Amino acid sequence: MAIWLEGGSIMHSNATICRRAVLATLIASPFAFRTAAADAPRRMVVTKDPSCGCCSAWVEHIRSAGFSIEVVETPDISRVKARLGVPQNLASCHTAEIDRYVIEGHVPADAIKRLLAEQPHARGLAVPGMPAGSPGMEVPDMEPQTFEVVLFGPSGQRSFARYKGNEPL
Ligand code: CU
Ligand code: CU
Repeated sequence: MAIWLEGGSIMHSNATICRRAVLATLIASPFAFRTAAADAPRRMVVTKDPSCGCCSAWVEHIRSAGFSIEVVETPDISRVKARLGVPQNLASCHTAEIDRYVIEGHVPADAIKRLLAEQPHARGLAVPGMPAGSPGMEVPDMEPQTFEVVLFGPSGQRSFARYKGNEPL
């Protein structure tokens, strides 16, 4: 009888421990998931013209900053820009998508990280044209150009950051 009780109580305490463990896992898992998601490389889809070389150099810059990249090639990049709502005055070579944002042209990786951290209500970031010295547009023995990173969206366009080469000003 004593053995049975002991056995019963052991079983009971095991079940309690087990239930506690399950509960702890259930409580912990949303946080665990959030941590894993934050640590995972952020996934970006880059659409480029197959003949564009500076786009590939920019992809390398973004990749080495910790983003995971999928490259899609199309000869009709202007169609992609129109579909994603890139204003014509902000157009550059490649067009990228990350989370709910559009990244147009040679935007420095740090500016994209800031965009994702701040989550402004906007369509995305653009570096119009192809400023010499911007990431992927490095020209040896040439002073990098100063350029604007423009935040664009339904409420218009404004300067998000100013860079000289890969350095924020
Ligand atoms: Cu380019
Ligand atoms: Cu490009």
